[in-house]
Amino acid sequence: MKRLFSTLLSMLAIISVMAACSNESQSQESADGKITNGKTLVAYYSFTNNCKTIATEMGKQVSCDIVEIQPAEEGLDYAANNYAIGSSLISAIRNNPSSESSYPAIKEVNVDVAQYDNIIIVTPLWWSQMAAPMQTFLFHNGAKMAGKNVGLVASSASSGISSLVADFKRLIPDGKYMNESLWIKSSQVSNASSMISSWLTKIGFANLSISTAVKAIKADVSQAKPSKRQAKNGQVIINEKYDISGKQI
Ligand SMILES: Cc1cc2nc3c(=O)[nH]c(=O)nc-3n(C[C@H](O)[C@H](O)[C@H](O)COP(=O)(O)O)c2cc1C
Repeated sequence: MKRLFSTLLSMLAIISVMAACSNESQSQESADGKITNGKTLVAYYSFTNNCKTIATEMGKQVSCDIVEIQPAEEGLDYAANNYAIGSSLISAIRNNPSSESSYPAIKEVNVDVAQYDNIIIVTPLWWSQMAAPMQTFLFHNGAKMAGKNVGLVASSASSGISSLVADFKRLIPDGKYMNESLWIKSSQVSNASSMISSWLTKIGFANLSISTAVKAIKADVSQAKPSKRQAKNGQVIINEKYDISGKQI
């Protein structure tokens, strides 16, 4: 009887250990590729301002820092002559993606991606690929995003974004990809606010309820400190939000 009891006890112990292990792996799995409560960076490049609008809208819904990627050479018209410059920049990268010299120079970006837990890339599509200046940023910083939750928002006129998603994964080889990218066509940019909000819900953005709460008390914001938007070295916008009592959230 005693032996039977002790056998039952050890079986129970084994079952509890197995259950604990499976719960742990489940919670690790569900944490993969979702925005968590840590610091969030939104990095965007925009030639005709669609992605700028999208990134700005993202900043209204997510507590984040926003950084703009800018080509070193100013004033280029990437769309002129049937998109000739954009086309040759993309061809150079396609022909030799592993060489630094294939990527167009960008202005120095004053941000340390290592400081962030969640990174959202907002970029236009050029000739079915990721726009060249954003590829340059990721060529230099993608490896530092290993293990971070990385999300992609892409805008095109009409082309599908699967090759651009492949660029994203090539340039951030070890990211924890948010399991759905958001595609906003240029004709849908005016609807970006609701598309972003649905996407954030889908990827399980933990802070969404806080941002929504901020919106819900908008009527009383006269008593709250206004949101601060500071440009740091002309590039990173710190997006701070305050609740009605003036406490930073
Ligand atoms: C050089 C270049 C190439 C483009 N190639 C495509 C394309 O192949 N397919 C497409 O649907 N849109 C293409 N577009 C349109 C942009 O992807 C689209 O207008 C996007 O919303 C622009 O974002 P932005 O305003 O932030 O620059 C191209 C635009 C440029 C400038």
